[in-house]
Amino acid sequence: MSGNGAENIAVGDLTSGQAEAELARLAGEIAHHDELYYRQEAPAISDADYDALRTRNEAIEARFPDLVRDDSPSLRVGVKPADGFAEVRHSVPMLSLGNAFAKEDVHEFVARIRRFLNLGADDPVELVAEPKIDGLSATAHYDKGRFVLGATRGDGTTGEDITRNLATVVDMPGRLKGSGVPDRIEVRGEVYMKHSDFAALNEQREKDGLALYANPRNSASGSLRQLDPSITASRRLHFFAYSWGEISEPPADTHWHYLDCLKGWGFTVNPFAKLCRDVDEALALYDEIMENRARLDYDIDGVVYKVNRLDWQDRLGFVSRAPRWAIAHKFPAEQAQTLLEEIAIQVGRTGALTPVAHLTPITVGGVVVSRATLHNEDEIKRKDIRVGDTVVIQRAGDVIPQVVSVVEAKRPKDSEPYTFPTVCPCPLATPAHREPGEAVTRCTGELACPFQQVNRLKHFVSRQAFDIEGLGAKHVEAFRDAGLVETPGDIFRLKDRRDTLLEWEGWGEQSVANLLDAIEERRTIGFDRFIYALGIRQVGEATARLLARRYEDLETWRSAMEQAARERAEHPDEMKKPEAVGEAFAALCDIDGVGISMADDLVAFFTEAHNIEVLDDLAGQLTIRPLEKAASDSPVAGKTIVFTGTLERMTRQEAKARAESLGAKVSGSVSAKTDIVVAGPGAGSKLKKAEELGVEVMSEDDWLKLVGR
Ligand code: IVH
Repeated sequence: MSGNGAENIAVGDLTSGQAEAELARLAGEIAHHDELYYRQEAPAISDADYDALRTRNEAIEARFPDLVRDDSPSLRVGVKPADGFAEVRHSVPMLSLGNAFAKEDVHEFVARIRRFLNLGADDPVELVAEPKIDGLSATAHYDKGRFVLGATRGDGTTGEDITRNLATVVDMPGRLKGSGVPDRIEVRGEVYMKHSDFAALNEQREKDGLALYANPRNSASGSLRQLDPSITASRRLHFFAYSWGEISEPPADTHWHYLDCLKGWGFTVNPFAKLCRDVDEALALYDEIMENRARLDYDIDGVVYKVNRLDWQDRLGFVSRAPRWAIAHKFPAEQAQTLLEEIAIQVGRTGALTPVAHLTPITVGGVVVSRATLHNEDEIKRKDIRVGDTVVIQRAGDVIPQVVSVVEAKRPKDSEPYTFPTVCPCPLATPAHREPGEAVTRCTGELACPFQQVNRLKHFVSRQAFDIEGLGAKHVEAFRDAGLVETPGDIFRLKDRRDTLLEWEGWGEQSVANLLDAIEERRTIGFDRFIYALGIRQVGEATARLLARRYEDLETWRSAMEQAARERAEHPDEMKKPEAVGEAFAALCDIDGVGISMADDLVAFFTEAHNIEVLDDLAGQLTIRPLEKAASDSPVAGKTIVFTGTLERMTRQEAKARAESLGAKVSGSVSAKTDIVVAGPGAGSKLKKAEELGVEVMSEDDWLKLVGR
């Protein structure tokens, strides 16, 4: 960098002209070193020299505040804003937590752990209890103690690179201090905004005529995802560290000790975190934290309990997207009273008629609420909810607000009980029908009902499904109304309708080209997304992933589902024992998280000819990628395992969960497809069959050695 003749003059002696030149030089110099450090990972000067440049810049700005440049390094951290955020893949997924709402749920959580680990009733299960911070989770990677990468949680597998923004967060150390810092560590925690900073920010936004943030959480989220980190820096975000992801060497064997390490390295750990000897002590802390809640300068929405022993955490593992070793005990929902102005009926993608309360807007728990779900006809009857009633509504976390009860004293004299509609509110007004024993009323129009069609398409293009950039719910609706798109397959034929699209109001060559490109990009799709996008009843993202993992490709899945459907047709009344229905049906129910009711919905989907048509039409246009194998480097990945006899070092459930987490399939019966039979004492017919078929048989100890424990 060229000099300006002023670089050696003390700040106190600078003239205004010299100061201006110096600030320009420093801005350029610091940006250059940021580029080397953050982007090229090749710093050219020592940290001390770099700090000296920044200190000098700040000192000059303090003396000449009018000269602060728009591109001043004091207003930003790191390199210039990028066009968007790059993706970061989490090598250890960032998961969510299961919820407990009552103390019994927490007792059950511990009982489950005892069963899973086969602990005695008197074996202590220590828990660490910590407030559940209502912010957004972020992860910070440190390499040799230096902050190198920051990311949002995203979908748990892939987040956004927010390195420069996270670097501006108040309690995010740039360098870790103290001893025992692992070579590489990824520290995870919650970014949040204090109430006081939130109030000041909104006050300023009001003065500036800008839209106000609804609550500190939204505000923290908006602030963290700014493309310009100088804006993030001005928002004063904070960070509580509470866990870790990838780590080169574990510095502790309990969660509690880990929190101590985090503190020692310079992180802020929530001061209410406590090591509890048993569940009663943890529940007492819950009460204490709840009592203090109103006095805190940040939002919390519950208490998280975590098993203290890390070897136990490891054994307990995960079920779909949440750990078995932790749970969030939520605070009771906040309530408020307001007027129920109207009951509207929404038609979901499966034709379910859902009553929705339109309310006089009211603030509950920091958020303005004007809609609440009324679930179904029975719920309305049971609570005798009527239009014109004053109702008590509640809201907990991100859950859809609910109508809890009616304030009968405020009921208008002429009010009448609500009658549930018997026709779909769509223009076709198709009859709606309620099966005996079912709570849901459904439109019988199936795919002829325009509301159902639209909602299926909306689901198909949603973020967790095909996620086609530029093709949101609104477009799908408009395209459907114009007859351009009726089934998902039509989306992939839009390229043949380019001329029609070009006539679309507000669309030009470029926007049509962008849309068609975005659609082409999704012609290759993950098998799990494909399954989820079909919108089968009860099949959410987690189940879709499990199905994709188990059946691996469309052909295998489809023939297994068709076989299960044939079996079900022969045994329609069996409600308890899947094996009594048939092999394919039982194998489906064998997947962790799939019960008989979900299996029935899957089978029903494959029984409906129209669904098969849509599926074939769609699949014919796509390349479906199998799910990336979890832990494919494990020697048991892709193998089919049968456990039989008594297991002595783990419970059956633990053995199954561990094998599945390593990418193996666990089956209940031995066949030629079985790769390994793990046999404990007392093994009988399955062991015999394995020997007959020449299947590899091993002891529990050999198995544990094989899977690395
Ligand atoms: S532990 C593997 N501890 O709650 C689970 N999460 O509902 C790791 N959260 O995504 C999470 N405070 O964003 C943990 N003390 C705390 C937390 C906490 C807030 C958030 C976190 C997580 C969500 C799950």
